[in-house]
Amino acid sequence: MAKPIYVLNGPNLNMLGLREPAIYGSDSLDDVRKKAEARATALALTIDFRQSNNEGELVSWIQEARDKAQAIILNAGAYSHTSIAVLDALQAAELPVIEVHLSNIFRREPYRQHSYVSQAAKGVICGLGAKGYELALEALADLLAS
Ligand code: DQA
Repeated sequence: MAKPIYVLNGPNLNMLGLREPAIYGSDSLDDVRKKAEARATALALTIDFRQSNNEGELVSWIQEARDKAQAIILNAGAYSHTSIAVLDALQAAELPVIEVHLSNIFRREPYRQHSYVSQAAKGVICGLGAKGYELALEALADLLAS
């Protein structure tokens, strides 16, 4: 059986739906997960969708992905802008990575306009809300088939 795609979500994303809806929309993280699962099934992929507020746990999941996953979709939340540890883990994983942000980080505060994750990412999708996760799955379906 093919390995899953790890869909990893960082800090405060458990608050989706409640947190600044004007920026992040009204979908809860569970809504995002359901949409991603439906799209994955349609693409004949499986996903393992997780969230943590803990930088070390995200690093451990990325390390685990090296053997257990075929690709990673990552919304590292604020750790995108701060975490060299997450970047190091992604580089060590040697897997295709798509970075996703719900909001358009380039229309926001200057400190959000740099992402360490981008340096390890095949592509970056931002500003399209939950749809970004579905588009990331589509991109990976093509990439993994080729
Ligand atoms: C985010 C953007 C980050 O700047 C922020 O810290 C988040 C969410 C997004 O999905 O738009 O927590 O990654």
